[in-house]
Amino acid sequence: MTKLRPIALRCEHHAAPMGLNRPAPRFDWALDGDGHNRCQSAYRLVVKAGENVLWDSGKVQSSRTRQIEYAGEVLVSDMHCTWTVMVWDEEDAASDWADAQHFRTGLMHPKDWRAQWIARYFVLPAGREAPADNSYDNRWQARPADHLRRDFATVERPVRATAYVSALGLYELYLNGARVDDAVMAPGWTDYHQRVEYQSYDVTDMVVAGANTIGALVGEGWYSGRVGHNQRRAGNHYGGRPALLCQVHLEYADGRIETIVSDGQWTTSQGPVCYSDFLMGEQYDARLEMPGWTEPGFDASRWQPVEVFAPDPRPPHLEASRAPQVRETVRFEGRYLRQAKTGGHIYDFGQNIAGFVALELSGKAGDRFTLRHGEVLDGEGELYVANLRHAVATDHYIAKGEGREHFKPRFTFHGFRYVELTLPDGSSPDDVTLTGNAIHNDLPLTASMRTGLDMVNQLLSNIEWSQRDNFISVPTDCPQRDERYGWSADAQVFWKTAGYVMDVSAFLEKWFEDIAEAQLPDGAFTDVAPSKPLNPYRITAQPGAPGWGDAPVILAWQHWLRYGDRALVEKHYDRLVAWLKHIADANPDHLRINAVYNNYGDWLSVGPASDRTMVATAYWVLVADLMAKLSGVAGRADMVAHYKAQAKAVRAAFIAAFVDDDGRITGDTQTAYLLALDFAILPSDLHRKAAAHLLRKLDEAEGHLQTGFLGVKHLCPVLSDIGSPQRAYDLLLNETYPSWGFSIAQGATTIWERWDGWTRENGFQSVNMNSFNHYAYGAVGEWLYARVAGIDWDEDAPGFSSIRMRPLFDKRLGWIEAHYDAPTGRIESAWRIAGEIVTWDIRIPPNCSARIELPRAPLSIHSGEASLPSTGPTTTLDSGRYTLTIPI
Ligand code: BGC
Repeated sequence: MTKLRPIALRCEHHAAPMGLNRPAPRFDWALDGDGHNRCQSAYRLVVKAGENVLWDSGKVQSSRTRQIEYAGEVLVSDMHCTWTVMVWDEEDAASDWADAQHFRTGLMHPKDWRAQWIARYFVLPAGREAPADNSYDNRWQARPADHLRRDFATVERPVRATAYVSALGLYELYLNGARVDDAVMAPGWTDYHQRVEYQSYDVTDMVVAGANTIGALVGEGWYSGRVGHNQRRAGNHYGGRPALLCQVHLEYADGRIETIVSDGQWTTSQGPVCYSDFLMGEQYDARLEMPGWTEPGFDASRWQPVEVFAPDPRPPHLEASRAPQVRETVRFEGRYLRQAKTGGHIYDFGQNIAGFVALELSGKAGDRFTLRHGEVLDGEGELYVANLRHAVATDHYIAKGEGREHFKPRFTFHGFRYVELTLPDGSSPDDVTLTGNAIHNDLPLTASMRTGLDMVNQLLSNIEWSQRDNFISVPTDCPQRDERYGWSADAQVFWKTAGYVMDVSAFLEKWFEDIAEAQLPDGAFTDVAPSKPLNPYRITAQPGAPGWGDAPVILAWQHWLRYGDRALVEKHYDRLVAWLKHIADANPDHLRINAVYNNYGDWLSVGPASDRTMVATAYWVLVADLMAKLSGVAGRADMVAHYKAQAKAVRAAFIAAFVDDDGRITGDTQTAYLLALDFAILPSDLHRKAAAHLLRKLDEAEGHLQTGFLGVKHLCPVLSDIGSPQRAYDLLLNETYPSWGFSIAQGATTIWERWDGWTRENGFQSVNMNSFNHYAYGAVGEWLYARVAGIDWDEDAPGFSSIRMRPLFDKRLGWIEAHYDAPTGRIESAWRIAGEIVTWDIRIPPNCSARIELPRAPLSIHSGEASLPSTGPTTTLDSGRYTLTIPI
């Protein structure tokens, strides 16, 4: 038995938050330690600023490891704090102190901000006519990035220096010639008309005594750059030029604090970044570089004064970054494939990623190197870009002609696996090195799973990569074409999967603010959040369709189950109520006919389409049920009965309108049965009959799935629940169209938007909508982790205080090895089939127990040397490691 140990310390769901958005932060930790029935009996948490103890909780008798709210001295702005925790185990033996973590308070109040928004003076482009059609004229719409700088002097070196920075647009911050941080796409996407996030950086080591220079490069990003698919209003969704806000606090040994802020003392110039835009790409002319522009002594006499201004329509509310920043996370070497018909050269990075290519090259001054990006190659091996729609996705580098040169674009990203590099005359591919840099919010990876089948392993990898590639400030539909919105249904069907792959708690807290801000006054949630660039000609945002607008309810519920964190539910509860009221007011007969907006139905299904009113009403049952539960979580017991009654009435209306006595549901589609079964809409006799219809539908499709975005998530879980897990495995292992395996057989390294994105018979699907990187169909991941590996949450004990372990064994898969770093600690599950016996090894972390549900009673249960008494197929196990043998 080892000592209990607090691990994975989190403050506000962050390893080290850069600022707080609440006066009393919340602390969480997990536990590590071997042995049986280990649990925490008490904890003691200490928060310090330097040597000064701000809060010592003392020894608190409690098994709680989550959401411990700070209760010490009042926290003020601009503090650097450290915290640690120790715990006592079941026998009152004390642990060591955990490795201390830190957090910053940031600028907690609007009045702390002395910096002003600055930007280059606004010059409207002259003589531009609105594009006459949907064509996209980059040459005129692209704008150079702005350089902003200011020199400042200090008498002595500060003992502590912190930079607080934000932008309307994107920024990179430099101090004395070096970047302060390697985050990209900061400050991220929010509705800049309402709110923008700021970041804080510890720059103590970068400030010197004497002359210093601070510089920032700002680009357009989501603020004024091209976002979305509406080419008549491609950019300028929030404003016409990027702007910077920057405040540096210098604290001296004697306690004096000096502040350097963005104000009228800064100057601005344009430089080598001719333009840098999400959809277009970047053009960089190295001949225009201004060496030393972020260092003292640089001659900025020809730079322009900046404009100090108040952003329209009002300065946004500033909040500390809620989620870990977007960073470059994985690099891929470009492999040379062949010369293209265009004369360019095609390279393969081996993985479809979101990010950009770094070039190392040599050339003559003025030589142009051009990179076009694509996800796939066409039948002739040429770069296929038709599916990018208006995303030009092209980077240009113009050499300065000085030895080895390096280029990496800044304020753009592309969705690609392949590039076509066009070289200047006289240059050869041998002279160029290409590295693909994947970017995404740098959230902790929390699970891994390997199995006995390569195809399934590739599927797990494709799921993880589609998540990485689409977690760029908001969860997007796709990272490549002129879309990249935070589509809500895509996220909700995928969210349970996403929560295994990464710790999505902080990321959801951030996105939920976007969702909340986009909500319309009549209670309607929106199809996408942030909402502005979608349909920019509408006065108000596009209200959410069934399954889309319902997403916030589902996300809040999942957040509660996975993290056991009530705060998000409490904070947004009234918004969820408003959404349900919006639906109920419009549909007094309890069929969801009105207020369905773009009613996408079971989007992109193959085979017969599901009835949209049926799908919408089924979703109403789900969200009414969840609201009854969430009302309990939010301490609104008064509302529980209301939602239960609503769910009951909608169920009755659903059955009356769509279900016959034989359990057949209107439209007779797989998705119809899947929703009715998984949302438990039918009484038991009809439920049984509907289950039989589902199996019949699968037979009719020769064992193939036919669902779209809304149905897909329920396929394997429902088949498992109705006693046909082997049918779920059939779908998983299928390699013929339509199936996950089909895309993998075609070489997919991410999840496709469409089952038929490419088929042998028809080639590519419509160029209008054919992404090879959409995570929605990756929703099968939750079944792999929760059911195949058997690591599921337990609704009765949220936050993985209890684990529901219902593994599904299958000889074809052979074996699996999985772990998940739950909020309570690491859960492990590994099984292997030999002959007719499964051997299953599990680890249940301290402070946690598992409800085991097996297909058959185990033959034996061992823990180390000890053999445990035999049990039936269901049993409960405490923390520890166990080996079970089970007949199959
Ligand atoms: C997006 C989606 C989204 C859908 C709504 C598409 O253009 O890519 O994934 O959910 O529109 O129907």
